[in-house]
Amino acid sequence: MNHLDQSPVRIGIVTASDRASQGQYEDRSGPAIVEYLNEVLAVPWEPLRRIVPDELSVLKQTLIELCDQQGCSLVVTTGGTGPAPRDITPEATEQVCQKLLPGFGELMRKVSLEKVPTAILSRQTAGVRGSTLIVNLPGQPRAIRECLDAVFPAIPYCIELIGGPFLHTRPERLVAYRPPK
Ligand code: MTE
Repeated sequence: MNHLDQSPVRIGIVTASDRASQGQYEDRSGPAIVEYLNEVLAVPWEPLRRIVPDELSVLKQTLIELCDQQGCSLVVTTGGTGPAPRDITPEATEQVCQKLLPGFGELMRKVSLEKVPTAILSRQTAGVRGSTLIVNLPGQPRAIRECLDAVFPAIPYCIELIGGPFLHTRPERLVAYRPPK
């Protein structure tokens, strides 16, 4: 795939929450991710949204489906990254990825810590499955923007390196960094 390919870039958005998946709680983080991506991306893209319980097997299956069957270039998860017994998103991510990118979690915790002391409770990580980048975000809606603003400048180049499409961003909103050739 190259930058002349006009088919919309597919992006998976996975909300991991027992309560949201049962309809007991309105998912506000999934829509916040869609809003963020609409703001920063300058390419046609298509969200594939999933709301799933905090179950390891369901989460793994969902991630695999979005990567392998749906051909998502990026999958962003929200929720389930903390220390509570049901929090299992980082494990699901690690188990489906061939390569982990621990720098994502490190940077997101660093910037989040400037906002909230409980940022250290998130075990959020990222990794690569095939040509899909998977990135974990915490479940708090306000964490979405804080975390994505920090790591998104590196995401388009990462997706290129793993064989995905060229992601143009709106430079007035977010400049994607690509090392000089
Ligand atoms: N990061 C940011 N930027 N903003 C937040 O409000 N909440 C923290 C942390 N990271 C938070 C954050 C809290 S309170 C928890 S428990 C962990 O993320 C894990 O959240 P999760 O289990 O919903 O993923």
